[in-house]
Amino acid sequence: MSVRKVGVRGIGAYTPPKVVTNFDLEKIVETSDEWIFTRTGIRERRIAEPDMATSDLSYMASKIALDSANLTPGDLDLIIVATVTPDMFFPATACILQDKLGATCPGFDLSAGCSGLIYALSVGAQFIANGMYDNILVVGGETLSKIIDWQDRSTCVLFGDAASAVILGPLDTGGFRSFVLGADGGGGKLLELPAGGSRLPASYETISQRLHFIKMNGRDVFKFAVRVMEEASLEAIDKAGLTLKDIDLFIPHQANIRIIESAAERLNVPKDKFFVNLDRYGNTSSASVGLALYEAFLEGKIQKSSKILMVGFGAGLTWGACVLEW
Ligand code: COA
Repeated sequence: MSVRKVGVRGIGAYTPPKVVTNFDLEKIVETSDEWIFTRTGIRERRIAEPDMATSDLSYMASKIALDSANLTPGDLDLIIVATVTPDMFFPATACILQDKLGATCPGFDLSAGCSGLIYALSVGAQFIANGMYDNILVVGGETLSKIIDWQDRSTCVLFGDAASAVILGPLDTGGFRSFVLGADGGGGKLLELPAGGSRLPASYETISQRLHFIKMNGRDVFKFAVRVMEEASLEAIDKAGLTLKDIDLFIPHQANIRIIESAAERLNVPKDKFFVNLDRYGNTSSASVGLALYEAFLEGKIQKSSKILMVGFGAGLTWGACVLEW
């Protein structure tokens, strides 16, 4: 089997219109704009309406990506949705999205926390590289607002809702030059949603103990994030046969500006090479890297043959990085 080059044929993202600022959060938990901004860099986030689910945001992002690739849903060979907030356990959000789009291809979901999009891109890229498929829709979609504990100030200020979508296809030149994926299940307890699965099915007790919401050890996740951002970035760049200086733009997972700045310092890369939009969206988990890539593209920060490093980390614990030549 010959190996084909794989690249990005189209890209899109969607955020719900409702803006929730740090000042709005001051009214529901004991916090302040000053605390949130200095500790995280976040000013505001987007929150989906109660009747909006992950597939709805994913649909909007996918339409934009399909248009930018000049493709119709009927052209798709596969849909992969990375999410930790699927519409429901089953059917897969990818199948719900397939139906909404009017596509006829197979689809499945992938759960890798905030590294989800990078994991999903690596999976999609294999199908194209080996010649099995030509056009793959990869989505990172989240409605984290539905699993946030709005009484827990240590987590509710961090997250937001969004979807991003990437169309992968075969290319003659450029495309993905490396992927690095990692996991440390031993750290799973640092960031989890304890109940609702087969370990702790929904019960009056799990609900009264608020176990259907995100639980996080922020300090330990912070330390893990700073370490893997550096290690995974260096590994992906090395695997691509490049050096740090060759990278034109860094697209990091948008969790916390202090994590991004620490990574930039450890890598000795100027901070302005790191794209940041977390001030407006917070941490949108699987959607975050794609949303940043899309906005960087719209802002003209990505040109033909730009070399881009994407790097993420999240629940699992997981991490992932890739080098993409545009
Ligand atoms: N407003 C005001 N005070 C808050 C607060 C809030 N929203 N959240 C926590 N605090 C308080 C804490 O209760 C603590 O008070 P104490 O010292 O009296 O106990 C104090 O602020 C400091 O908390 P600490 O946890 O040390 O803050 P921090 O500097 O580590 O920042 C995070 C907290 C969550 C912002 C930071 O740890 C972080 O970003 N971690 C990574 C999280 C992440 O990225 N998760 C997603 C991974 S994909």
